Amino acid sequence: MKSKYIDLKNDNDYTKIKPAAESIKQGKLVLFPTETVYGIGANALDEKAVKDIFIAKGRAQDNPLIVHIANIEMINKLVKNIGNIELKLMETFWPGPLTIVLKKTPIIPKVITGGLDTVAIRMPSNIIARKLIEYSGCPIAAPSANISGKPSGTLVEDIIDELDGKVDYIIDSGKVDIGVESTVVRVVDDIVHILRPGKITPEDIQKLGFKVFIEKQILGEYNKNEKVLSPGIKYRHYAPSTKCILVYSKDEEKLVQKINENIQGKKAVVICKTGNMNKYNTDYKLDMGETLEEITNNIFTLLRKADKYNAEIIVVEGVQKDGLGLAIMNRLLRACSHEFIEC
Ligand code: TXA
Ligand code: MG
Repeated sequence: MKSKYIDLKNDNDYTKIKPAAESIKQGKLVLFPTETVYGIGANALDEKAVKDIFIAKGRAQDNPLIVHIANIEMINKLVKNIGNIELKLMETFWPGPLTIVLKKTPIIPKVITGGLDTVAIRMPSNIIARKLIEYSGCPIAAPSANISGKPSGTLVEDIIDELDGKVDYIIDSGKVDIGVESTVVRVVDDIVHILRPGKITPEDIQKLGFKVFIEKQILGEYNKNEKVLSPGIKYRHYAPSTKCILVYSKDEEKLVQKINENIQGKKAVVICKTGNMNKYNTDYKLDMGETLEEITNNIFTLLRKADKYNAEIIVVEGVQKDGLGLAIMNRLLRACSHEFIEC
């Protein structure tokens, strides 16, 4: 059966989502927007509903989900031992694209956390996400909206084919604001560990006077024998079906030359900055914008688009790994299965 569709693209009558909230209450799944990416939501306290999310996505059971709340009062039932650093992070960045891993209470079903004794909590700033939580009257567990392994959905058009019929409702509000998933952090011994980079950067957190540690798997390849704080890191992600490589150089001329060498004689798609659009020897070029914000906003939809050309290779221009660049490079390295040329 097809999913029911709620159009909020040019409309801010949020009461239209009430039937979807009713659906959440009844243990069904709803595809909804957040400021980062779309999510597939279910009542976080309903074990059966949460299991259905894993089935809909084809997601590994040991990869835990984020629980979304609409206001700070909701958190007390869900977690314990909130420290001063976590409180300051909440005060500063919530509502917004920051997820904080905390000790869970028994009310959180084990299926959400993949058996861990911690749970990831986020208070989104997107008004539709918040209203959906409020109208449903429960915290909402939601992973990014995509089949496991594929780029996260930033536009309903990109994900409708893979998710239509797997959720009861689809709430469409057009393209999301940010375009990559939230920053995930966990405080251990007074140090803020970045488990997944996002719009809230390590620099933003350091500005509060806290020590920050960037988990090395964020830019390196995951080694099966290493213990990871964030199980999501282990899995193939964001990957188009076409072979994909990432090229970066501080020197724009070298970058263009290296990419042209790699696409020579091949049917290739190049995903590049606006200013480099006419520098590559291929007919298939996709414009990712110029600023880090634009690139963040476009990257997932372009990886999906690039895959549709049935090319031999997709080549993506990399960016510097500072600030928001860290989140972009983390997603691109994984999309390219760490096929990375730095020159
Ligand atoms: O922006 C976002 O965070 C989006 C929107 C929908 O809110 N959600 C999202 O969820 O990206 P998902 O499931 O695609 O990614 C959740 C990430 C995974 O990398 C997972 O390993 C990590 O959060 N995570 C969840 N619970 C955790 C925990 N208890 N400890 C460590 N990492 C955790
Ligand atoms: Mg995801």
